Amino acid sequence: MMIVRTIGELRFALAKQRANGWTVGFAPTMGALHDGHRSLMEAASWDGCLGVASIFVNPLQFAAGEDLDSYPRTLDADAAMAEEAGISYVFAPSAVEMYPEPSWTTVSLDVVTEPWEGESRPTHFAGVATVMTKLLSIVGPCRAYFGEKDYQQLAMLRRMAYDLNLDAEIIGMPTIREDDGLAMSSRNRRLTPEHRAEAPIVSQALRLGIAAIDAGETNPATVEALIRDALSTAPSADAPDYVAVVDANSLRTPDHLTGEVRVLTAVRFGDVRLIDNMGTLIS
Ligand code: PAJ
Repeated sequence: MMIVRTIGELRFALAKQRANGWTVGFAPTMGALHDGHRSLMEAASWDGCLGVASIFVNPLQFAAGEDLDSYPRTLDADAAMAEEAGISYVFAPSAVEMYPEPSWTTVSLDVVTEPWEGESRPTHFAGVATVMTKLLSIVGPCRAYFGEKDYQQLAMLRRMAYDLNLDAEIIGMPTIREDDGLAMSSRNRRLTPEHRAEAPIVSQALRLGIAAIDAGETNPATVEALIRDALSTAPSADAPDYVAVVDANSLRTPDHLTGEVRVLTAVRFGDVRLIDNMGTLIS
């Protein structure tokens, strides 16, 4: 496995591999890797593709006052995990390599980015869409792997690939969780012991919502209230930024739940903001 720091070196190396007949599978990350990232890297390398992972804490997707500076950076451990997962190239550029000058181009999407995370973090998704357009252009994969953990991000990137006729197929992978149900996240390591002990309430609350839907509840407001009640039992959690009970494709709340449904929430424990979601199918 090679760690590559520049766009030029990566393009050169991948061009040679393509000439040898390889196609590229891509797992983009911001590092501080855990088993959720590992599952994407394994899929990227094991689908018969040459596995490429990127590790880049993208400043464009953090607003002023968010956790850009405190975002964990653990390149040595990350490289070891990437190698174990079968990755051939880790692309770990500097911010200057990715953005030598302020970008005059921004990629942003309507509709799918407007509610939920988009309301809480108004500049976030344009930062993700812009860096992913650059990374997909640099790496040129035939498949790119993203976690359902960031469900709205996945929905946005699927739509971006469709709207812009990108070559890469966008593939969603299931959320990997700790034994107590907490969705794995690079931010979990910044939870205090007290917050870590209470954090599983997030997945428990969502699971309650899903159980109610599976038991026949079709009123989204009732499901939302159930989830909010469960979340309110954690003394150290703030009120959730949102609790969304939505159609899994439009991400909008219908009058009555039907078909593929997703429940999503964002909850802050101290200065750590956790997001999670789960889905079910009403048949
Ligand atoms: P990051 O938060 O590092 O996540 C990288 C990828 O790992 C994303 O596709 C995310 O959904 C996935 N992931 C995170 N936790 C997961 C879990 N518990 N189970 C399964 N997959 C999980 O998301 C980003 O970085 C950035 O926005 C990025 C797309 C790299 C653009 O900068």
